[in-house]
Amino acid sequence: MDDRSAVYPFVSRGGPAPLTVVRSEGVWLVTEDGRRILDAAGGAIVASIGHGREEVAAVAARALAETTFVVPPFATPQRVALVERLRRHWLPKPLARAVFASGGSEAVDLALRIARQHHVCAGRPERWKIIGRELSYHGATLATLAVGGHRARRRGLEPLLIEHPKAPACDPLRCEHCRGAGGCTLACADAIEEILLREGPETVAAVIAEPIVGSTAGALVPPDGYWPRLREITKRHGVLLVADEVMTGFGRTGREFAVDHFGVVPDLLVGGKGLAAGYAPISGVYASDEVVAPIAERGEEVMFYTYSAHPASCAIADKVLEIMERESLVARAAEMGGYLHERLARLRDHPNVAEVRGRGLLQAIEIVRDRDTLEPFAEAHHVATRTVLAGLGRGVFFYPGGTRPGPDVVCVGPPFTISKPEIDRIVDVLEESLGAAVASIG
Ligand SMILES: Cc1ncc(COP(=O)(O)O)c(C=O)c1O
Repeated sequence: MDDRSAVYPFVSRGGPAPLTVVRSEGVWLVTEDGRRILDAAGGAIVASIGHGREEVAAVAARALAETTFVVPPFATPQRVALVERLRRHWLPKPLARAVFASGGSEAVDLALRIARQHHVCAGRPERWKIIGRELSYHGATLATLAVGGHRARRRGLEPLLIEHPKAPACDPLRCEHCRGAGGCTLACADAIEEILLREGPETVAAVIAEPIVGSTAGALVPPDGYWPRLREITKRHGVLLVADEVMTGFGRTGREFAVDHFGVVPDLLVGGKGLAAGYAPISGVYASDEVVAPIAERGEEVMFYTYSAHPASCAIADKVLEIMERESLVARAAEMGGYLHERLARLRDHPNVAEVRGRGLLQAIEIVRDRDTLEPFAEAHHVATRTVLAGLGRGVFFYPGGTRPGPDVVCVGPPFTISKPEIDRIVDVLEESLGAAVASIG
């Protein structure tokens, strides 16, 4: 055992030392022994503008030299510039209010607090439940685990998690709802209304969902009518709709936000990873004046985190978004995502691939033992992790996902600067790695 295992990771299983990455540039990770690994996962579906851009590093250095830290209720030029850019170019109207956090979990947690405070301040203190969905991930804090549907990540922590109602996933491949109806009736969206009515709409504060489900389900895209139906149901019952776009936001799916594909504006929109593309830990919650007004009228605050709107993080995010605009990287994510999806299509005939799916540069394959019955591999085989390890051995890093009950998935989410030949390589290696993983299970 390498003695580095004694210091990292936190939970050491005594296996080989973790991969040590000493540099990252463009779409590449460089290890200490000089190996170059193609980052087909964008880290954790984070790196969108590519790694190692000097102009971002220069902005970070300047911002740190100018203003080290101010308490979050103060303004800084970096924060003002970022909010102005978000309003001008990125946020769906009328979401014009922005508050920041450091990561996705913190931001979703903050969105839940805002939803609750909104109702309390508007004189509806009985509204506290948050309806989440199965097969979802909203973060690793206790509140975000409580509203999420990632069973493996909740396991053992249940006594600490407040019980919130869970709606079924929108999972077209396994849909039980519309069987015999001759097509999709959006019954899984209507199930949310049934839950609302069962719980009593006057007790429900919000519904939270990922517009396109990230790694828990593997780039699961709902039918076009699903989000408009959700919007209509929540509005009719006075319930806030929270879109968790920590993974899908800021161009990842080929539109600014994934809700843009469906023509829906949520009440609260949460963004994370892509906001600073991995160059700084910053995330945000975006809301309309209407959502914030009752809180303002009651003279209440929304408590900040110490590192909310850190000046350097804001400056970095502003620069990252400027680069995205200048290089039309959202359009590029749509174009390269289309190419990636096309190339992945050949895996549809693979005996262990149930589906190839996704939008833009968030794509995934779902792996099964039997594609006719959709029988999964035994959980203990960790087929997604095996595939990712086989990929790493071949010089490409993919992102494993899935939970039980639920699918085994491998996600592909490279930086938007990826080229077509690099995509060809990603798909070739994914096919080989899947074959190697399945063969190793036997
Ligand atoms: C949809 C979604 N929400 C929340 C989170 C949590 O974000 P973080 O890991 O930055 O706390 C993630 C992370 O993958 C995510 O994909």
